[in-house]
Amino acid sequence: MLAEQNPYSPGSGRRPPELVGRTGELEAFDTLRARVASGRGDRGVVLTGLRGVGKTVLLNEMYRMAESFEWLTVRIEARRDEAGVHAVRRALARGLMASSRKLARTTLSSRMRGALGTISSFNAKVGATGIELGVELSQGRADSGDAEVDLLELVEDVSLALGERRRAFGVFIDEMQDLDSETMGALIAAQHLANQQDWPFYIIAAGLPNLPRVLTETRSYAERLFNYRQIGKFSREEAARALRDPAERLGAKFAPDALDVLLDAADGYPYFIQEYGQAVWNLSPEAFIEPSDAVAAVRHGTEQLDGGFFRSRWQRATRSERRMLRAMAADGEGPSSTAVVAQRMEIQPSSVGPYRAALISKGLVYAPEHGQVAFTVPGMAGYVERHHEDIDDASGTSISSDR
Ligand SMILES: Nc1ncnc2c1ncn2[C@@H]1O[C@H](COP(=O)(O)OP(=O)(O)OP(=O)(O)O)[C@@H](O)[C@H]1O
Ligand SMILES: [Mg+2]
Repeated sequence: MLAEQNPYSPGSGRRPPELVGRTGELEAFDTLRARVASGRGDRGVVLTGLRGVGKTVLLNEMYRMAESFEWLTVRIEARRDEAGVHAVRRALARGLMASSRKLARTTLSSRMRGALGTISSFNAKVGATGIELGVELSQGRADSGDAEVDLLELVEDVSLALGERRRAFGVFIDEMQDLDSETMGALIAAQHLANQQDWPFYIIAAGLPNLPRVLTETRSYAERLFNYRQIGKFSREEAARALRDPAERLGAKFAPDALDVLLDAADGYPYFIQEYGQAVWNLSPEAFIEPSDAVAAVRHGTEQLDGGFFRSRWQRATRSERRMLRAMAADGEGPSSTAVVAQRMEIQPSSVGPYRAALISKGLVYAPEHGQVAFTVPGMAGYVERHHEDIDDASGTSISSDR
C-alpha cells in the first residue's frame, strides 16, 4: 500500500492514529477539571511506565485538555545532561511567559495582574525571554534566586489568581525522574503547600517506573501528594484496535491470522504496534493484508527496532556495561538481583555499583527496588540475546575502570 498514506506513527511522543486504552486516565483528568471548576481540590498526577508505552502521548493529551479548560499551562522535559536547575527554571519561565500572553489580553483582576507581575519577575531573574506581558514586575516575588522560595511564591500568586476564575495552574513534566533534585524538591514542596491550602496548582508528570521512588526519596510526603498511574501494555483487544482501526478507516483489512501474527510480535507494546503496523502497511501489495505480509512485516519491523530503538541504547553502553546487560538478559524481562548479576559477571557485588549507576544515568536500566535492576525498554533482553556477539561493537566507549 502507499507509504504516503501510512497511518501508523512509530516514534517518540508521536500522536497515534488511534489513541487506545487510556480512557481511565483521561477520565480521571477530566474529573480533576470538574473539581477545579467547582472550587474543590485534588491531587497531581504521575504517569509511570517503561519506554515506549505511551507516557508522552498521554501527557500531551492531558496538556491539550488542560489548554482547552483554559488552565495556565507550562510543559517541560527534564534532561539529565542539561545544566540542571538553571536550564529548568529558564524553560519554566519561558513557557509561563508564552502561555500568560493570552491571559494578559483579558480584563485583569488586581490579583491576576499581580500574578503576571510575579511571572515577569521570575522571568527577569532567570533571564529566560525578552517577551513582556505589559504589567509591572512584582518586585520581591519569585526573584530571590532560591528555587524553593521562588517556585512557592510563583505557585501561590499564580494559582490564587487562577482560582478566582475557577481555573488551575498546571505544570507538565516529562521524564521527571531526570529532574535535578533541587528543582524536584522545590516542585514537590509547592505541590504540598498547594494541596494543604487548596490552591489549584497541579504537577502532571510522566517518567520511568522508578519515578515514584525518586519522588519519595526527595520528599517523603510525595507518596501522598499524587495520583500515581501505571501505564503499561495493551490488552489483546486494545492492541487489536490500535492496529486494525487505523487501517480499516483507510479501507484496508487484515486477515484474522495476519492480525494475530502482528499482535503476538508486538506483545501489547504501543511502540511496537506502531512499528509493525507501519511495516505491514508498506509491505502489503493489496489492501487485504495476508498472513505472509504479516510475517514479512514482523521480520522487517524487528530489524527496524534492532537497528534503531534497541541498537541506539546498546551503543550507549561500554563493553563492561554490556556484560552487565547480558548478565541481566539471562532473567528475561527481569528484574534481576544485582547480587546475581555480579555473580554472573564474576565480580564482587560492590563492583557492580559503578556499571549500574552508569547504565541508570544512560537511561538503559532502572532500580525497581533496592538490590534490583531491570531494563527500561521492553524487549531489551531479547535484543541482547540476538546480538550478544556485538559486545565488542567498537562504538561503545571505554571508561578507565573498564575490565
Ligand atoms: N494510546 C495509544 N494508542 C496507540 N498508540 C500509542 C498510544 N500511546 C502511544 N502510542 C504509540 O507508542 C509510541 C510510543 O509513545 P510515547 O513516545 O508516548 O511513549 P513513552 O512512554 O513516552 O516512551 P519513552 O519512555 O521512550 O519516552 C508512539 O509511536 C505512539 O504513537
Ligand atoms: Mg516519552
